[in-house]
Amino acid sequence: MTNPLSAGAEIISVKEHERIVIRNALVLTMDCDNLDEVESTSAVVLGAQKECDVVIENGIVKAIAPNAAANQTGARVIQGRGCVVMPGLIDAHTHPVFAGSRATETVLKAQGLSYEEVTARGGGIVVSMRATRAASTAELRASYIARARQALARGVVAWEAKTGYGLNVEQELRLLECLYEAHKEEKVANFLPAMAPTVLGPHAASPEQHGLDNYMQALIDALPQFSSLAKKYAELDRVKPISVDVFLERNYFTREQADRWLSAALQHGMDVHLHADEFSRSGGCEVAIALSQKMEQTHARARNRGRVLSVDHLQYATDSDLLKLQTLGVMPVVLPLTSFFSNIAYVEGRKLRSAGVRAAIASDFNPGSAPMNSLWFAAFLALVKGGFAMSEVLTGVTRHAARAMGVEASHGVLRVGLPAQMIMFEGNCPEDFFATPLGDHLKTVII
Ligand code: NIG
Ligand code: FE
Repeated sequence: MTNPLSAGAEIISVKEHERIVIRNALVLTMDCDNLDEVESTSAVVLGAQKECDVVIENGIVKAIAPNAAANQTGARVIQGRGCVVMPGLIDAHTHPVFAGSRATETVLKAQGLSYEEVTARGGGIVVSMRATRAASTAELRASYIARARQALARGVVAWEAKTGYGLNVEQELRLLECLYEAHKEEKVANFLPAMAPTVLGPHAASPEQHGLDNYMQALIDALPQFSSLAKKYAELDRVKPISVDVFLERNYFTREQADRWLSAALQHGMDVHLHADEFSRSGGCEVAIALSQKMEQTHARARNRGRVLSVDHLQYATDSDLLKLQTLGVMPVVLPLTSFFSNIAYVEGRKLRSAGVRAAIASDFNPGSAPMNSLWFAAFLALVKGGFAMSEVLTGVTRHAARAMGVEASHGVLRVGLPAQMIMFEGNCPEDFFATPLGDHLKTVII
């Protein structure tokens, strides 16, 4: 089934019993054990195979090998010559349920104000909260669907979607339900990325609650409600388990508040993320380390109990924090669009590399600090501004991102037996990913 509405890339949502073969492409599987480019070449790290076929049957990858499609009759054939095939992109950090515009903040920041100064002048998250609360649920659902479609058309086959512009229990539940409802109707959901919902209730102060402590307690008390809403939609295809997140930062939530919220969520079996050490060394990494140690978390993690999945932003994180987190199986997530739009430092690829740390790269798409729905451009910035190596960027938006989202069992690599989720762009070498900063050369998205 092909989406007739897509303007740029062709979107193919594979039907049951459908057979598709891609012939003679350069295939990057990202499925490699040795991720250390110092020791191996980027072709090895990326799992590159030249003149390679990919066979898809019943939505599953059946073969990845040269000539694998030679005897496939009756299959839909996609010519891959002159093209690169790789796993679909995974956006592990987005805030896509909101209404309203904050372009005035972009103008103020262009004049030299910082994100924090703009917020102190009455801008920031609260502006989006007002617009979001004023919007009807139908409007929020429609705008979310449009954004999710746009992300898919730009190569994103799975994304993490945070609430966070409701700022009280009732409104946060409304936003969470809105996410689930958007992915409920099959005809719509077949042309959206897979979605991992995250409750970011503690994003900023709640106007109804006196003080952050009270709001935090109200959110903790409401965890059973968030959890039962997730259970109600547990059967939805391509919707992942619920997680929570917190904005741990000066003038936002404290370490103690974050620890209480995340501990309670972990007790409920939910995975957790943190907005950590973005504007100051506020302790996000330290909280994540302590929690994952308490959970006795390792790389080989048991499912069905909460995990500390990721620490995100990280401008002020230290190398030793990040290395500890890596050992504990917590993925750092770097967000270059936020640096671009909010004039803060880029987290340096070189620095992470010399510390031996691998990171995911995500968009942070949101109406304020990163008003751009393009993981492709985030990847481009990680390369040209963040100094990440090409292979670090490409694994950062695929297999590492899948880990940050907790979906590594089914996403992020091309492997026989896994669901078929891949993109194909014009090019002859992995570097051609960066041929256009927005991915204008993306030809096909298969989910
Ligand atoms: O990830 N840092 C906190 N939250 C968002 C900003 C959201 C907003 O400004 O609306 C972020 O950058
Ligand atoms: Fe964010």
